[in-house]
Amino acid sequence: MWLFTSSVGRKVVMSVTGLALILFITFHMAMNLVAIFSAEGYNMVCEFLGANWYALVATVALAGLVFIHFAYAFWLTWLNRQARGNQRYAVTSKPKAVEWASQNMFVLGLIVILGLLLHLFNFWFNMQFAEIMHKDLVDMGGGALIAPHDGAAFIAYTFSKVWYVVLYLVWLCALWFHLTHGFWSALQTLGWNNQIWIERWRVISYVYSSIIIGGFALVVVWFYVKSLL
Ligand code: HEM
Repeated sequence: MWLFTSSVGRKVVMSVTGLALILFITFHMAMNLVAIFSAEGYNMVCEFLGANWYALVATVALAGLVFIHFAYAFWLTWLNRQARGNQRYAVTSKPKAVEWASQNMFVLGLIVILGLLLHLFNFWFNMQFAEIMHKDLVDMGGGALIAPHDGAAFIAYTFSKVWYVVLYLVWLCALWFHLTHGFWSALQTLGWNNQIWIERWRVISYVYSSIIIGGFALVVVWFYVKSLL
């Protein structure tokens, strides 16, 4: 099938799954901002997205998107390297227009996935999964016990630890680079590639990625500072 066999088809799969993931993180970031204003409000949203059938269906769909995006990234990188053969080592001067992020999308993506695994352990495992397992309280060590539906308490606990703050900020930096290139590159692949729009999308990508990552980082820093007061 075209989406497997042609190189354009494979890039279309990367682009569509990438754009769907950008949509998800947009909602996720907006939802997280609620925690800054109201713990009760945030927990209400978490309850809505907890161990309900529709939230579980969304989780499975999301896992599918991440898997396809990741698997295709491996496949495309492998095919590109095969096509270039030894030439990749002979090239010393790279075109100026090619930004650093575009050259390092695969490595950035790997950091994003590793951070995501840590993140899913911190939150999804302790919240949605703990609820599925009918746990009333999760033992976070050091005597801290948190109810699986108390998302605001998990955020406050996680970002009171400086090493989590550092790890999350590094992860968010990698995601910022990955998004700045991925967003406009996806639109270019999908055909929005005339000279005027490519420049516009590039600027929009930088602004949009900065807003998303800035929103996530604000939550991290906000709760760290709050834990010090
Ligand atoms: C300040 C940063 C972040 C905070 C405080 C945060 C918070 C949370 C919380 C509380 C949950 C569990 C929700 C529940 O199970 O009810 C969650 C799940 C999740 N987060 Fe984040 N998140 C952050 C950043 C991110 C980023 C940057 C990504 C993507 C790259 C991400 C991807 C996910 C995914 C895929 C899930 C699982 C969703 C599901 O179960 O359907 N998160 N996050």
